[in-house]
Amino acid sequence: MQTLVADHPLVSHKLTALRDVRTDSPTFRRLSDELVTLLAYEATRHIRIERVQVQTPIGRADGARLAGPPPLVVPVLRAGIGMLDGMTRLLPSAEVGFVGLARDDETLVASTYAARLPADLTGREAFVLDPMLATGGTLETVIGMLVSRGAAAVTAICLLAAPEGAARLAGAFPADLPVPVRVVTAGMDDGLNDRGYIVPGLGDAGDRLFGEI
Ligand code: URA
Repeated sequence: MQTLVADHPLVSHKLTALRDVRTDSPTFRRLSDELVTLLAYEATRHIRIERVQVQTPIGRADGARLAGPPPLVVPVLRAGIGMLDGMTRLLPSAEVGFVGLARDDETLVASTYAARLPADLTGREAFVLDPMLATGGTLETVIGMLVSRGAAAVTAICLLAAPEGAARLAGAFPADLPVPVRVVTAGMDDGLNDRGYIVPGLGDAGDRLFGEI
């Protein structure tokens, strides 16, 4: 597993505003959307392309277009939904699958309550959207589902990550696995508190996006 912490002034600027406790939900949603689009630029760096030529008004130009089959974008319910528009804006040809996991507040263990994914992902590149890579339990489950269905590569896009979660994924998906697994994030924080929250983090991403329901 490879981890990339996006090092860009705009990413840092937007992440800092996102963290701020005074940022309200509408602004938090807008900033998440913008941040995902910036992270998606890095996350799609290895996406497969095919060479094509086009006719310009002046002459022939060598170029590229995304190779088939279409990529799959998988937001993890519920907070990943806040990242979907920002991702599909950059990848409009992508199909969208959904996975829902709920984390037990005591054990911090995540269990799957919904999964709407193609049964066969052979040759498909998958992008998982989950704002917070905390313990890594959720992403380990979701990435495992995609790898077991034949995905050619899996990239998780996270607004923030904790070293504990990154280490867990590195153990579950070692670099010599035939399927490349990557995490692209705007920041790697200090660690987790005893409730599994990222410190200093930004709080509960789902609540900040959609309210405390
Ligand atoms: N999920 C969140 O929403 N925030 C955290 O800090 C950790 C997990």
